[in-house]
Amino acid sequence: MRRKVTKAVFPVAGLGTRFLPATKSVPKEIMTLVDRPLVQYAIDEARAAGIKEFIFITSRGKSALEDYFDESPILERELRKKGKLEALEDLKSTNMESGAIAYMRQHKALGLGHAVWCARRLIGDEPFAVMLPDDVISAEKPCLQQMIEAYEETGGNMVAAMEVPRDKTSNYGILDVKEDMGSMVSVKGMVEKPSVEDAPSNLAVIGRYILHPQVLKNLNKVKTGAGGEIQLTDAIAQEIEGTGVYGYRFRGQRFDCGSKAGFLQATVAFGLARDDLKDDLRKFLHSVMQIDNAAE
Ligand code: UTP
Repeated sequence: MRRKVTKAVFPVAGLGTRFLPATKSVPKEIMTLVDRPLVQYAIDEARAAGIKEFIFITSRGKSALEDYFDESPILERELRKKGKLEALEDLKSTNMESGAIAYMRQHKALGLGHAVWCARRLIGDEPFAVMLPDDVISAEKPCLQQMIEAYEETGGNMVAAMEVPRDKTSNYGILDVKEDMGSMVSVKGMVEKPSVEDAPSNLAVIGRYILHPQVLKNLNKVKTGAGGEIQLTDAIAQEIEGTGVYGYRFRGQRFDCGSKAGFLQATVAFGLARDDLKDDLRKFLHSVMQIDNAAE
């Protein structure tokens, strides 16, 4: 019987330079899509997939994130007094049970691999998930749940994968596919941020992973890779000949909220998906497009 995946690591210690100056004082993960911070979408997805322990890898300046998951008794009391019960329920859904959430500090932004390695003592000898909150995925069945169901068949290591335009491969870890089984591929190589000429495919790894604990041991030995950072991709790639690596083509739409364009697109898409906002937003977008077309 395969061990259940109940722990997830959320690396949020990056500098968020693409969103400066906002990220000078606001952690990127607290930035808001409609009315919820990015991190809430990741937590909801993890919960739906059966995750019970949430491990955040944070850094200096991210304390807003810790406060976000705490109870806010004064605000709750005020909402109750004013009869704003719907807002109260929304607020309560953001509280995390004591002991379910842990924070580890990554003292230097040495890369995603290093951030995940910081969680090694809390993970121990279990398979675990890694979720990057700036990849927001809108899907009927949450992406991590799809992956956990697939992982229950395969074991090993699984990375979320999607086709990207050829000229964008240098932004991603790219899979070298051994066998394509449709929603799943087996992997014979992984390259971090290859140039268009060197990319073995256009199947890119995005921010959801299910990993074997051996990857943490590999991270002990991984040297700095592309961009002078300790790359998670390199430690996973070492398992191709070991516990095995699979790419999973999830069903859903991924928004790269670590980039400005992706964040704006997600804001529009999530706004249009909301019953209370969609009519006005659609009218507004329509009028903007008309003005835009007339100007051309
Ligand atoms: P990014 O590559 O998006 O980097 O990291 P970043 O620092 O967040 O943003 P930019 O590129 O400067 O704008 C991918 C994920 O890995 C985490 C980030 O917090 C993000 O969730 N990360 C990255 C760490 O936790 N530690 C690191 O040293 C690097």
